[in-house]
Amino acid sequence: MIKVLTIIGARPQIIKAAAISRAIRNHFADKIKEVIVHTGQHYDDNMSKVFFDELGVPKDDYNLGAGSGNHGRQTGQMIEGIEKIILQEKPQCIILYGDTNSTLAGAIATSKLHLPIVHIEAGLRSFNKNMPEEINRICCDHLSTLLFSPTKTGVNNLAKEGFKLDNKPAYTIDNPKVYHCGDVMYDNSLYFSEAAKKKSKIVEQLGLSGKKFILVTVHRDVNTDQSARLNALFEAFQEISSAENINFVIPLHPRTSKVLDEHLNPDLLKSIRGNSLIKIIPPAGFFDIIQLESNCSLVMTDSGGVQKEAYFFHKPVIILRSETEWVELVEQGCAILADTDKQQIKDAYSFLMNKSRTYGIKYPAIFGDGKAAEFICKEVFEQFST
Ligand code: UD1
Ligand code: UDP
Repeated sequence: MIKVLTIIGARPQIIKAAAISRAIRNHFADKIKEVIVHTGQHYDDNMSKVFFDELGVPKDDYNLGAGSGNHGRQTGQMIEGIEKIILQEKPQCIILYGDTNSTLAGAIATSKLHLPIVHIEAGLRSFNKNMPEEINRICCDHLSTLLFSPTKTGVNNLAKEGFKLDNKPAYTIDNPKVYHCGDVMYDNSLYFSEAAKKKSKIVEQLGLSGKKFILVTVHRDVNTDQSARLNALFEAFQEISSAENINFVIPLHPRTSKVLDEHLNPDLLKSIRGNSLIKIIPPAGFFDIIQLESNCSLVMTDSGGVQKEAYFFHKPVIILRSETEWVELVEQGCAILADTDKQQIKDAYSFLMNKSRTYGIKYPAIFGDGKAAEFICKEVFEQFST
């Protein structure tokens, strides 16, 4: 039996961790014991608890209560807490997900204690170091021992940064192993889509049964913190909904809700609030969001996870950023990068809603076979059980 310490903190990490916890429970219960540390980066029930409840993530063994704040305070408090827990629990390895401040804190605390890091979602790059996530993921990858990349692009990015793809065991921080393994988020979307159909009533509750609607999520700091960009986005939503008579559903991240009044032009805010076609709702649970993703006509998002889930459910997506880590989506023609340029968003909308143009879009299985988590658990056990 090996002991692994899983560190999660932000919404997408709780979701990703569900796939690994499920694989441990179903296939490795006699081989892997998982201890879960929640940094407390996300803390509202609809940003954290709902995912434990719906996705069957075991209750966290520790919660560091780091909460919100500037990067230094938030990350520093997490490092201190994680270090204490690692010293107490003495796990064989630490599992980190993605690219948040919780990931960075876990990477720093773990590597200084000379324990191996397993990085799930390794190798993704935006090549934009103004993103806090780009800094977090580069640091984490370069401190990791086992790097699990969901895409071939991720593996190639690591190779270009000097990672050797033919290293042999025993793997260490200086002799790391890079795997191409598929995406644990795809595992989850396959696994939970039937349950979501049965349990979620969100489409009916919003009065959208049989109606066309666009699903929107916005939370990237570059979009929420720059008033001009946030205004351009909401102007685009308002103008498209009015011109096309189409509904918008916007489950709003708390970061974005908190700045709407301050950053949006008051007239625009008034028109949005008075527009019955635009439904701004609280952050959705997982069953609700995947029902929205699978029933909508198109997705507009700056989220990494929502972009991919749009692909999993064969929906076109307008990416509200200037670049993406998931370049395959753009290459396949299912996604268009429109940034926050109102005209580009409108043009992308017309293009992607034109069925005769998009009919031929293919959604090949570039995110694995739905069993990425099992593969990861098998490798983690094999590498650390001796
Ligand atoms: C974080 C990650 C981002 C990820 C996102 C997923 C970093 C640097 N960023 O961004 O990569 O895409 O999570 O959702 O780690 N807030 C609440 N309640 C909560 C959580 C947050 O009200 O439960 C509000 C607070 O005002 C907080 C703000 O949201 O200041 C931002 O939260 P934070 O965790 O710092 O970053 P995110 O924008 O959520
Ligand atoms: N998500 C959710 N409810 C929402 C918005 C997103 O459950 O209202 C899920 C989404 O389905 C995906 C994950 O959260 O699985 C993506 O997280 P987020 O957009 O917060 O961050 P990112 O992926 O950009 O880091």
